[in-house]
Amino acid sequence: MTEAAPTTQPRPAGRSVPALARTTLLWPNGLQTTVDAGTDWLAAAQTAGCPIPTGCLGGSCGACEITVDGDTVRACVSGVPASAEPLTVEPWDDPAW
Ligand code: FES
Repeated sequence: MTEAAPTTQPRPAGRSVPALARTTLLWPNGLQTTVDAGTDWLAAAQTAGCPIPTGCLGGSCGACEITVDGDTVRACVSGVPASAEPLTVEPWDDPAW
């Protein structure tokens, strides 16, 4: 069995390479950062100086839950979505966050 070789096609003249989607995040400490869509939440939070507590790092314990524009997100298994509008990140109702 042979594998098909990847194909490449020339880019049509005059078309530019699309830029990566970037998302601006507003953190509880007042900082604002802008990251590539898909960036790991834990890394984005660490860079912003708001490290997120973790437990299992597998999506099952909930220790890493944050609220992003009102939606609960398990940061260890999620990436920053593409958003044209800034996203507000808040700690889950955990006094230790
Ligand atoms: S660290 Fe357990 S769900 Fe994220």
